[in-house]
Amino acid sequence: MSEHIDSVLTETRVFPPPTAASVGMPRWHVASMQEYRALHRRSLDDPEGFWGEQARMLAWSRPWTRVLDWNPPDARWFVGGQLNACFNCVDRQVETGHGEQVAIVWEGEPVRAPSASAGSNTRNTSPVAGARGSDPEIRRLTYRDLQRETSRLGSALRSLGVKKGDVVTIYMPMVPELAVAMLACARIGAAHSIIFGGFAPHAIVERVIDAKSRVIITADGGYRRGEVVPLRKNVDEALTALGSAGHGVEHVITLQRTGTPTQDAAPGIRGSAPGFHDYHTLLDRANADCPCEAMDAEDMLFLLYTSGSTGKPKGIVHTTGGYMVYTTMTARLVFNLIPDAGQLFWCTADIGWVTGHSYVIYGILPGRVPTLMYEGAPNFPASDRFWDIIERHRVTQLYTAPTAIRTFMKWGQEWPRKHDLSSLQLLGTVGEPINPEAWVWYRDTIGGGRCPVVDTYWQTETGGHVISPLPGCTPTKPGSCTLPLPGIDAAVVNEQGEELPPNQGGLLVTRRPWPGMLRGIYGDRQRYVQGYWSRVKGPGGTALQSGGKNTGLETGAATPYYFSADGARRDQDGYFWIMGRVDDVINVSGHRLGTMEVESALVSHPAVAEAAVVGMPHEIKGTGICAFVTLKSGSGRKADDGLRKELAAHVAREIGALARPDSIRFAEGLPKTRSGKIMRRLLRDLAAGVEKITQDTTTLEDYSVLARLRETDE
Ligand code: WTA
Repeated sequence: MSEHIDSVLTETRVFPPPTAASVGMPRWHVASMQEYRALHRRSLDDPEGFWGEQARMLAWSRPWTRVLDWNPPDARWFVGGQLNACFNCVDRQVETGHGEQVAIVWEGEPVRAPSASAGSNTRNTSPVAGARGSDPEIRRLTYRDLQRETSRLGSALRSLGVKKGDVVTIYMPMVPELAVAMLACARIGAAHSIIFGGFAPHAIVERVIDAKSRVIITADGGYRRGEVVPLRKNVDEALTALGSAGHGVEHVITLQRTGTPTQDAAPGIRGSAPGFHDYHTLLDRANADCPCEAMDAEDMLFLLYTSGSTGKPKGIVHTTGGYMVYTTMTARLVFNLIPDAGQLFWCTADIGWVTGHSYVIYGILPGRVPTLMYEGAPNFPASDRFWDIIERHRVTQLYTAPTAIRTFMKWGQEWPRKHDLSSLQLLGTVGEPINPEAWVWYRDTIGGGRCPVVDTYWQTETGGHVISPLPGCTPTKPGSCTLPLPGIDAAVVNEQGEELPPNQGGLLVTRRPWPGMLRGIYGDRQRYVQGYWSRVKGPGGTALQSGGKNTGLETGAATPYYFSADGARRDQDGYFWIMGRVDDVINVSGHRLGTMEVESALVSHPAVAEAAVVGMPHEIKGTGICAFVTLKSGSGRKADDGLRKELAAHVAREIGALARPDSIRFAEGLPKTRSGKIMRRLLRDLAAGVEKITQDTTTLEDYSVLARLRETDE
C-alpha cells in the first residue's frame, strides 16, 4: 500500500466503540459520549467535587480538609488527608475479605523446553515451533501473601534504620520481589527510587547521589533473552564509584534470583563499607507485624528519574494522595477494570519505567484486578512468548508499546495465529506515537477486530494517562490518542498560550492542575519552574519566572500552563494527534532518552572531541539514535567501522543498551551558528536523509562542514 493511501486512511478511518458484551466485559464504566462529555464538563466546572468523589474510592486514615490548594506551580491535593499506598493496594483487599484472591501472577523467563524430555526428532523442527507447551516458572501471590511479604521487608528495612522520608534505591529484575520492595517502602513511608535494570552502573551512581540514597535493594541477576543480566555486579561497580565520590551506601540487600555468585565486599570502597544482606535471610528474621505508616497526602511516594534536555536525568517527585487517586481512576476508566469479573490485566512495561509504576502496580492493585508480571523478553524461547502467556493465563487486557507492536508485525502473524487470544477484551498502547498501520494490525491481528484499542498519551510527569480514549464510548482513529480524560484541560497553543485552530500544530499544554501531576524535580526547584511552567504563557501573558524561592507569580496573576514539551495538533473533532517532543528528548522504542546524555557518554571516550546526537526515523523503534562525531586530532584513531562499533559499545556501557546509537557519522566539524550552538534541526534533516536541506543555512559558520557531513553517510 502506498504511503499516500495509508495517510488518507489515517484521516478517515473511525472505529466505533464495541459493546461491552461483544468483548466479554460485564459493562463499561463510561458507556456513551454523552456520559463522557458530562463527566468531563463536571470535572472542570466543579473540580473539587469531582476529585473529592474520586478520592473517596480509596481508603484514607484521615479525611482531607481541602481538595486542592493551588499556588502555581505548586499544587497540594487532598490537604490534611492521610493514607498509605501499600494499604490501598494490599491490606485493604485483605481487610474486605479478599485476602485469598490473586494479586500478582508472575511468569519467569526461563522455560524447560518440551523437547528436553522427549526425542528431539519429533518436534521443534518447524521455523515457527513456538513456545507452546514450554514449562515456565509461575508464581501467584495473593493479597495476603503481599501483606506478609511487604510487612516482613518493611520491618527489615525499619530494623536497618530506614525511616519515613528516606529514599531507598531499587535495582531489580521483573520478579515479584520488585513489587514487594516498592510496596514495602510505601508501607513504611520510605520513598523508592527504582532504576530500570537495563541501566548501566554510571546511571546508578548519579541517581543514588542525587537522591542521597543510603540503601539499595538489588538481585544477583535477572534473566533476559536466555542470558543473565549481572545486576549485582553493576551495583558493585557503582558502589566503588560511589565510594570514590564520597557517598556512603549503608546497606545492600541482594535477592538470589539467578544463582550468580556475589562477593559481599565492594572493592575500593573508602570509609565504611555497606552492610550486605541476603534478601531471604533478612526476611526470615524479620517481624511479620509491620503496620502501614500514615502518610500525608503530599508526602513523597517515590522519585523516578527521567531524561530531560540536559545531560543530567531529573528525579520526578510524586506524592501519595494525588498520585494514588489519579492512577486508580485512570486505570479503572481507561482499562475498564472490574473486580470479580475474571479479568487479568497485563502491562508489559518494566516496573523501572513510569508505565510499570502506575499500571503494573499502583493504579491496578487498588482496583482488585490481578496484574501479570513477566520477567523477560518477547522472543524467548520463541517469537510467540507474549501470545503463549496470554493464552496460558487468559489475559483480558494487554497494554504494550508501539515499538513492540511493530516488532511483532515484522516477526509475522503466524506467531500470534498459533495461539488462542480470545480471552482479550481490550488493547492499549503507550510511550510514543503509534503509526496507523501498527494500530490497525494490533486491532485486527491481536484483538481479532473485536477489542477496543486505547492509545494512551501521558508522561512520567503526569503520573497517569492524560489523553486517551475510554474504551466503551470513544470512537477511535488510528494514530490519535483522542480526547482528554476527566479532569484534564488539555490544549494546543502557541508560545503566547493562545489556543490554535484545528489541525494547526503547536505546543501541548494542560491548563489546570490534576492530582497525578509531578510535584517537583528532586532538589532542583529552578529546573521544575523553568522546564514546565515558564515556556508557555498563560492567559494575560503570564509565565513563571524561574529562580528565587517563590514562583515569581504575583497574587491575582493568571494561572500558568503546564508545558509537556510535546508538539501536537487537534483535528476538527477535537481529537489530539501527538507530533512528538519539541525539546532535546527522543523516544527510542518508547524509552525516553536525552540526546545530551548520549552526547556526554560519547565525549567520555578518549578518541571523541565533540558529538551531537539527534533522533532519526526508525522502522521499528519509531525513533533511532543518530550520532555525529568529530575525533580528537591527536587520538591516532581512524574514522572507521571498528571505531563505530567501539563507540556504540561505549555508549551502551555508559548508559545502557537502550542508548546504543543506530548510526554513527564521523565529521570534521559540526554545523554551528555564529554563537556556537549546534544546528540540531539541520542534523535532524541530515539524519533523516531529507534530500533537500530545508533550513536556512545562512547562519552556518562553515558551509563546507555541511557538505562533508553529507558525504560521510554510512
Ligand atoms: C511520548 C511514558 C504519542 C511523549 C508514559 C511523552 C506518546 C513521552 C504517547 C513521555 C502516546 C507517551 N502517543 N506519544 N500515546 N505516550 N508519549 O515519560 O513524547 O517515559 O512526552 O512516559 O512519551 O515518556 P515517559
